[in-house]
This record gives sequence, C-alpha cells and structure tokens, in this order.
Amino acid sequence: MSELFSSYNLSGLHLKNRVVMAPMTRARAVDTVPDSNTALYYGQRAGAGLIVSEGTPISDEGRGYLYTPGAYSVEQVAGWKKVTDAVHAQGGKIFSQIWHVGRVSHVSVQRDGIAPVAPVAVIAKDSNVFALDESGVPGLVAPSAPRALNTDEINRITQEFADAADNAVKAGFDGVEIHGANGYLIEQFINAGLNKREDAYGGATIAGRIRFALEVVDAVVARIGSARVGIRLTPFSRLFDLHAFDGEKETWLALAAELSSRNLAYIHIGNAGSLLATEEGYSFLKEFREVYQGTLIFAGGYRQETAERVLDEGLTDLVAFGRPYIANPDLAERMQHGWPLADPDYTTFYGGAQKGYTDYPAYKAV
Ligand SMILES: Cc1cc2nc3c(=O)[nH]c(=O)nc-3n(C[C@H](O)[C@H](O)[C@H](O)COP(=O)(O)O)c2cc1C
Repeated sequence: MSELFSSYNLSGLHLKNRVVMAPMTRARAVDTVPDSNTALYYGQRAGAGLIVSEGTPISDEGRGYLYTPGAYSVEQVAGWKKVTDAVHAQGGKIFSQIWHVGRVSHVSVQRDGIAPVAPVAVIAKDSNVFALDESGVPGLVAPSAPRALNTDEINRITQEFADAADNAVKAGFDGVEIHGANGYLIEQFINAGLNKREDAYGGATIAGRIRFALEVVDAVVARIGSARVGIRLTPFSRLFDLHAFDGEKETWLALAAELSSRNLAYIHIGNAGSLLATEEGYSFLKEFREVYQGTLIFAGGYRQETAERVLDEGLTDLVAFGRPYIANPDLAERMQHGWPLADPDYTTFYGGAQKGYTDYPAYKAV
C-alpha cells in the first residue's frame, strides 16, 4: 500500500491517512457564522486524514473578504461546533486556520469603514479582494490603503490569535493552523521588501522580521499547547505585491530553526509544489527539512502520483490537496481505490449556496 494511505501520528493525534484537505475559503457565511451547510461540506470530506478549515478571521480587522466565517464571536464558535461534530462523527480530524489579512483588505469589510492595518502604510498593488464595490455590490476590488500598526496594536493582535485558538478548541477543533502564508499579515512582517519598520518588528534584521510570527506562535502555544499548533508558510511567495529581498533564504531557514525548537504539530508549506519545480526551490526545501525537525505538510498542485513521490522521497510527511477536494468529497477514498476524479467548477469556488459546495457526490453515488 502506498504511504499516502498509511496512518500518521500527528503529535499524538491519530490520522487515518496522510491526505490533508488544504484550507480553502469558500465565502458562503453571509453573516460570518458557519451553518448546517458548512457542517455538511466538511463532514462530506472527513475521509481526509486531516482537514484544515478555510481561513477564519480572528477579528473584524483581520477580515479581507466578504462572507468568511470568523473565530471571534459566541455565534461563530457555536457554528464551528456543528462543523467539528460532523467531521468527528465521520472519524475525521480538523484544524482551524486562524487568519489576519493585514493590508489585503478593503474599507467595505472593515468595521465602520476604517482603514485596514499593516506593518507599514503601503498599499498592495495589482491585487484584488472580495468586498463591496463603490455601488455596494459584492465583487473583486483593489485593497484599500492601510495604516501602520503601533507596537501595542501588534501585541493586541498576537493576543487575538491566542483568543481565536482558544475559541477553536472550544468549538471542538483538534488544533489550529496559524495562517503565516500567502502575503497576509504575518508574511507582511517577514518580507523585508515590504517591512521597513524601524522598531523591534522591523525588516532590517532577521530577528525583527520573524518576531511577530514567533510571538504569535508562542502566544497560541501558551494557550492551547504546542501539539495542537501548526503554521502555514509560503517561502518566497510573491502573492499580494510581495517582492524578493536580500537574505530571504536565511530568513526562512532561521524561522524554520526557531519553529523546530517549539515542538509544533506541523509546518505546512503552501507552495511546495511550485518550489520543487526549480532546482533552487528543491534544494531549499531539502535544507528546510534538515533544519526543521518536525512534521511537514506539502501543498500546491498535487495529484496522487506526485504526492506519493514526495512521500517516497522523504521530503514531507503529509500532502495537502486543495482544488481536488472541492469536486471530490471522497478524494482520499477515490485515490486509494483508483476511482476517477471529478473536475471542479471554478465559477462556484467563492460565494453562493449549496451549488458547487455540498452537491458534489461521492463516487459510489454517481
Ligand atoms: C477556492 C480556494 C480558496 C483558498 N483559500 C485558502 C485559504 O483560506 N487559506 C489558505 O492558506 N490557502 C487557501 N487556498 C490555497 C489552497 O490551500 C492550496 O494551497 C492551493 O489551492 C494549491 O493547492 P491545490 O493545487 O491542491 O489546489 C485556497 C485555494 C482555493 C482554490
């Protein structure tokens, strides 16, 4: 049997296979509260060894997109409880991805229309978020100009990550994945091309760049324990107007070393697939694996064959699948039995109701 379908001990949590459902925003929580459809959707996908939930904003300020279910109100926690119950009833495991978008936001999704926040007051150019346009109609709009955070506010956000982790555990999640990837707040601090702050969180030094990430990790670990905490990273990511900077590789490896000493559940490399496509990226990931002693999850364009290859090569421990999980609720089972895969409908990725969400059948029902 392929390693993909063998069980895995994730810091004491038994995963029935090494297939992870990648975090995917589906923007269907109109009032920011997960509902019975959300529970149905995740329950249908409980054949994955581990599900990582869609990004869940830790506060109104941390929100960049309409209709994303949050992790900071009593109603949201109650909504998520239905989701975790549905997944656990099917023998699945689920982590909550906790998220602050930083500057990748728009005044129309911020409370009272205030400016989004960021390490520096620099707008994300050539980017889009899902918010309200000038006529109040939902659609893709350019991010608004952010204002720079002061240090008290940075500490406040760190605590909000910890509060969201607490809420996730109250909602029955098996753990949390800190969203440190894809150009959002944590990566905005890490990227020295953007982070020109001159305080302790400033981008001029590696310690400054990674300070916020580590403080968030430490605060969350202090609250719920290291075994329940993972983090998603996208080294060398260029999403949302982030650019190359001097010492980039050393920065990621220094972060890997710091995280290694913290005994986390895992690091999830969101762009592993594209990194591995170049010789430079491949050797970077090999080095990353040497420096980081814990569990790794790779994501980004994987199919069964390529997933089995990276597992066989020992580059990673688990492999995450995103888009294939949209159209194949029973993806792990289909791969294991060699059943054909369905293609997802891209037009229903974000927003709407059941269509393109809970109406993809399992293979046997076809
Ligand atoms: C509809 C959609 C929503 C996504 N939302 C998130 C998200 O909330 N958080 C995140 O870290 N990545 C998000 N991603 C990225 C996926 O987790 C994954 O890394 C990406 O789709 C590449 O993997 P794939 O080729 O298997 O789809 C999203 C991707 C898609 C297609």
